[in-house]
Amino acid sequence: MTVNKLEDLRQRKEKIQLGGGEKRIAAQHEKGKLTARERINLLFDEETFVEIDAFVKHRCTNFGMEKVETPGEGVVTGYGMVDGRIVYAYAQDFTVVGGSLGQMHAQKISKIQDLALKMGAPIVGINDSGGARIQEGVDALSGYANIFYRNTIASGVVPQITAIMGPCAGGAVYSPALTDFIFMVDKTSQMFITGPQVIKTVTGEEVTSEALGGAMTHNRTSGVAHFVAPNDEACIAEIRRLLSFLPSNNMETAPIFDTEDDINKIIPELDDIIPESPNKPYDMKTVITHLADDGDFYEVQPYYATNMITGFIRLNGQSVGIIANQPKVLAGCLDINASDKAGRFIRTCDAFNVPILTLVDVPGFLPGTNQEYGGIIRHGAKMLYAYSEATVPLVTLILRKAYGGAYIAMCCKELGADTVLAWPTAEIAVMGPEGAANIIFRKEIADADDPQAARAEIIENYKAEFATPYKAAERGYVDDVIEPSATRPRLIDAFNMLASKRETRPPKKHGNLPV
Ligand code: HXC
Repeated sequence: MTVNKLEDLRQRKEKIQLGGGEKRIAAQHEKGKLTARERINLLFDEETFVEIDAFVKHRCTNFGMEKVETPGEGVVTGYGMVDGRIVYAYAQDFTVVGGSLGQMHAQKISKIQDLALKMGAPIVGINDSGGARIQEGVDALSGYANIFYRNTIASGVVPQITAIMGPCAGGAVYSPALTDFIFMVDKTSQMFITGPQVIKTVTGEEVTSEALGGAMTHNRTSGVAHFVAPNDEACIAEIRRLLSFLPSNNMETAPIFDTEDDINKIIPELDDIIPESPNKPYDMKTVITHLADDGDFYEVQPYYATNMITGFIRLNGQSVGIIANQPKVLAGCLDINASDKAGRFIRTCDAFNVPILTLVDVPGFLPGTNQEYGGIIRHGAKMLYAYSEATVPLVTLILRKAYGGAYIAMCCKELGADTVLAWPTAEIAVMGPEGAANIIFRKEIADADDPQAARAEIIENYKAEFATPYKAAERGYVDDVIEPSATRPRLIDAFNMLASKRETRPPKKHGNLPV
C-alpha cells in the first residue's frame, strides 16, 4: 500500500477523533463534562474499545447543512470489554452540532442496538444531546422511532443502561425511559419533555431547568432515574459496578464473584435488631448489609419511595435482588410509588435471572384519599403481578409485621415464594392488634365494666394468638422460624437449594409488557 493512502487514513481518523474540535472540547470540559470519547474510554477495560461507523456522514442538505461537517456524525459507537465481558455502547458527542440526532446518527445507534441484541450483550447509551437535529426534520424523528422500537424489542433480553450526561429533551427522553436503568450526573444533566420556556408560555409556571429535570428531581421526585453520580467519572464507575450484578442476557446468569466472607457466619447483632416496641422503627439497611457478602449493598433508586428498598447484594458470590420494607420511612407501608418501584425491580430481576430476596416488615397499605384517587389499587396490583409471574428463585423472610394485603404483596407463599422464613418476632395477621380489637371485639369492650381494661386484655390475647409466626408456620405458609443470627447461612442454603429451579408460564401474546 502506498504511504499516501495510509497517511490519508490516519489523518481521516485523527480528524474524527477530534469531534467538534479543540475549542468545543474545551467548552465541554469547562461545563464539567467529559467528551464522548473520554467517557467511552472510561467505560471499557483498557484498550478494548473497537469503534464502528466512525466514517458515517449525514446526508442533510437543508438550511446549509451540506456545508456542515459532523465528524463521527455526533455519536461514538462500538463495543469493548467490561470486566472481561463484551458490552456495546454509544456516546453522543455534544461537541458535534450539540450531539443532535439526525438520520445517520440514529442509524449508528440502531446498528449497535441490533448487534447487542443479536449477540446477547448489554448496551450502554450515553446521552448528551440537543435532541432531534432540527434541520433534518422528520428524518430525525424517524431515527428516534427506530431507536425506541429497538429499545422495546431488546427489553428483557439484554440489559439496557442509559447515562444522562448533558441535556436530554423532548421525545428523546423516551429511549432512556424504555431502558432498564437510568443514571444522571448531578448538576450537568437534565431530562424533560418540555423545557422551561415552553412551560412558561403554556402554563405560566416559572421553573429552572435544574428544578424541572435535574438529577435530583428525577432521583427523588419523579422516580424516572435510578442513580445519581457527582461527576462523569463516578457515573461510569457506577455503570461498570451495576453491570457486575447482571448477566449478559436473559439466557445467562450473573457472574459469580469470589468472596472471603464466611458463608456460615452467625451475626449476633441480628438477634437484637428488632425493637421491643412494635411501633419503634429500625433501619432495614443495617439488616441488608449484615446479610450481604462483604457488607456490600448496591442500592437502586436510593432517593425515591424510600419506604421501599430495592437493590443488589451477593450471597456466596451470587447476585441477589433485594425488595425490602423500610420501617424507618412511613413505617414501611406500601404506597403508590413504593409499589411501582418494587414492581418494576422485581420484573427486571426476573427478566435477567437474578433471584429475589424479600424482607418483610409491613403494616399495610398507606391509607388516604391521595392514595385511593391516585390509583393505589392499580399500582399495588403491579407488585402482585410481578411476583406471581416471576420464575426466578424467590425467598421471603418475615422480620416483624406482615399484615393484610401487604403480607400478600410482599411475596407470600401463594404468590410464588419458594421458601418463606420468619424470625420469632414476626407478626402475621389480617391487621394489627389495636385495629382488630376495635372491629371484632367492639361490643365486648363497650359492654365491659371497665372497657379500657377489657380492651387491653383483648389486645394481649390477640397478640399472643396472632402476632406470632407460629399460626402461619402451623399451616405451612411459613416453612421455618429461624434465629435471626443464623439468617445468612440459612439464606445461602435456600438459594443454593433453589439454584436449579425451573418453572414455566403459559405463553402470552404480550408477555413482556413493562410495568
Ligand atoms: C440542531 C442543535 C440542536 C438541535 C443544539 N444544536 N441543539 N443543532 N438541532 N436540536 C447546536 C447549536 O445550534 C449549536 O451549534 C451547538 O449545537 C451547541 O448548542 P448551544 O446551544 O450553543 O449549546 P448550549 O448553550 O450548551 O445549549 C444546549 C441546549 C440548546 C440547551 C441543548 O442547544 C438547546 O436548547 N437546543 C435545542 C433543544 C431542543 O429543543 N431540541 C429539540 C427537542 S424535541 P453552533 O454551530 O452554533 O455551535 C426533540 C424531539 C425528539 O428532540 C422527538 C423524539 C420522538
